[in-house]
Amino acid sequence: MSETSVRHFLAIPDFSREELVATLDLAARMKAGGYHEKPLAGRTLAMIFTKSSTRTRVSFEVGTYQLGGHALFLSSRDIQLGRGEPIRDTARVLSRYVDGIMIRTYDHQDVEDLARFGSIPVINGLTDLLHPCQIMADLMTIRESLGPDLSSVKVAWVGDGNNMANSWLNAAYRLGFELRLACPEGYHPDPAILERARGATKIVLTGDPREAVDGADVVNTDVWASMGQEEEAAERARAFAGYCVDDALMARASSRAIFLHCLPAHRGEEVEDSVIEGPRSRVFDEAENRLHVQKAILATLMG
Ligand code: CP
Ligand code: NVA
Repeated sequence: MSETSVRHFLAIPDFSREELVATLDLAARMKAGGYHEKPLAGRTLAMIFTKSSTRTRVSFEVGTYQLGGHALFLSSRDIQLGRGEPIRDTARVLSRYVDGIMIRTYDHQDVEDLARFGSIPVINGLTDLLHPCQIMADLMTIRESLGPDLSSVKVAWVGDGNNMANSWLNAAYRLGFELRLACPEGYHPDPAILERARGATKIVLTGDPREAVDGADVVNTDVWASMGQEEEAAERARAFAGYCVDDALMARASSRAIFLHCLPAHRGEEVEDSVIEGPRSRVFDEAENRLHVQKAILATLMG
């Protein structure tokens, strides 16, 4: 069982509002070149992947190296986890070798179990339920473009009520900004996460992308079919028709609005090429910021 002093980052609310802001401040300092410490010197991060990744894998590996540590890439195709070794056994074995685990997988319960049965920090690199590291990068990108006070921004989400949408709700819950989600019927966010956020701030859930985007400062979308939903792609393409961020939709946003997408993107589906390549798009700053926020999270949990 995990020691009570071990901290994890499985979901945005694992950090207090003050800790989230401190982590974003540290990430900004790291990006600006004002941080030269090596808090991970002599330490190893195990990175378990049961799904594909470009950004998460590379940014965690590079970030660990930049902090003085070593990162191990563990594909589930190669380790015994992929052949059915229980996650609780994997957790206890890895805890004897390494100093932290980052995991990307399907079932969020597996990540909870890894944290519960291991004795080292666990970081969620995406599950079917949540993608908290991505939202930290998105929050950092918003601060860079719109200023440090996140409580007054209006964020719009257009598309699937997926791991990204759930994590946006968690961020709104902790930081208190207004979040408007446009999701088709049958593709709403997790009901418990939605209700908790509704208890803390203004949350609008609509079936009309225009209602979500009207006056928003941040317009945000994601693929119609996430990893693991490939067989639903045709059905989802029908359900999400009209949920495309195009220039006409962006024109409804506020004059200072930025466009975000966690990537990978499907141009011509959830976003038009002219938007993702346009002047309001910050998607490559957003991708870069994965590196900086994750270094700040690693230094906080493992340093
Ligand atoms: N946005 C994101 O998590 O990208 P990868 O799937 O490439 O890691
Ligand atoms: N919702 C997407 C995010 C990819 C980074 C997925 O889970 O595939």
